[in-house]
Amino acid sequence: MKVGGEHFRTIWLKPDDETVVQLIDQRFLPHRFVIEEVRTVEEMATAIREMHVRGAGLIGASAGFGMYLAAIEASTRPTAAGADEQLAGAAAQLKATRPTAVNLSWAVERQLKNIAEAKNAKEKVALTLHTAKLIADEDAEHCRMIGHHGLELIRQIAAKKAGKSINVLTHCNAGWLAFVDYGSATAPIYAAHDSGLPVHVWVAETRPRNQGSKLTAWELGEHGVPHTIIADSAAGHLMQRGAVDLVIVGTDRTTVRGDVANKIGTYLKALAAKDNDVPFYVALPSSSFDWRLRHGLKEIPIEERSAEEVKQADGWFKEQHVEVHVAPERSPAANYGFDVTPSHLVTALITERGVCAANEKSIRALFPEQTA
Ligand code: MRU
Repeated sequence: MKVGGEHFRTIWLKPDDETVVQLIDQRFLPHRFVIEEVRTVEEMATAIREMHVRGAGLIGASAGFGMYLAAIEASTRPTAAGADEQLAGAAAQLKATRPTAVNLSWAVERQLKNIAEAKNAKEKVALTLHTAKLIADEDAEHCRMIGHHGLELIRQIAAKKAGKSINVLTHCNAGWLAFVDYGSATAPIYAAHDSGLPVHVWVAETRPRNQGSKLTAWELGEHGVPHTIIADSAAGHLMQRGAVDLVIVGTDRTTVRGDVANKIGTYLKALAAKDNDVPFYVALPSSSFDWRLRHGLKEIPIEERSAEEVKQADGWFKEQHVEVHVAPERSPAANYGFDVTPSHLVTALITERGVCAANEKSIRALFPEQTA
């Protein structure tokens, strides 16, 4: 997608040195556009854990590149056994960075499979490089296709609105910054905007990390999509007043029966949507399905982050990043990163293969090769 009119992905290999991964360091957005260079698996693990990169698809792509960097590092080990041990350690290190987005372990496992097939260190490096690029390219292409299928849904709503704005509500950032390109929830929005439909997006700010107000608002603005930032708690009010035509959110992990883990606050929006007959769509590439899990509430691990994120606010002041305290310093706080929206609250899933109901039969019909 575009930054200052120039096309960017969120992660790529340095053009003149393919042993270096470059990525957009999202901690500085929307105030600074910073590109970070990552050279080791250790640095990649930090980038994921500390949220320089974030969002399910991008976490997966970063882990894919992380395993490639690990293969380069391991190739300098004197013995094959030592190299394999180092690679197993790198895989565990990457997997431990964040628990909820399934794309992370999916990408690492995919790389490990390759590594097991390679005959020597050189082949391991070549195969992990090839796969890291493939994961990134597939992510971008799947999101592009989500845009294609989601556009049809927006078109159907537009047909009933006689040229008036179509109001989409989204939560967190499931935009191109959360993937390699296009985004999941935003892909249909960009496709609608680019095809001339009058879309307007309600952007829920997404406390405590503010991925909505910092990231989604920024990327929609860069692309020229009309949008309005709202407090998270305003979504129900807008739906009651008929100001929301549809909700589209992303997901970090969706079970085979269609339970959806997404950024904390998503469930409340789904409840409000149900109460007000507003369609509630979840957009996801197939890499965000967890084919081993069925019962989202019982089985999906929910990340708990530092309480300080809840008690503080941060932003830019006089050209500097500052953090301020907003709560009594001695009050305890809890910081749950995600919640689970049960499938019965989900109108449909938008995937790269098309739109399906959030139930096992429909999901499996779209992805029959997934037998786990
Ligand atoms: O904690 P984050 O910023 O990595 O959050 C993940 C997300 O981006 C969201 O939950 C998003 O809505 C779905 S993942 C693209």
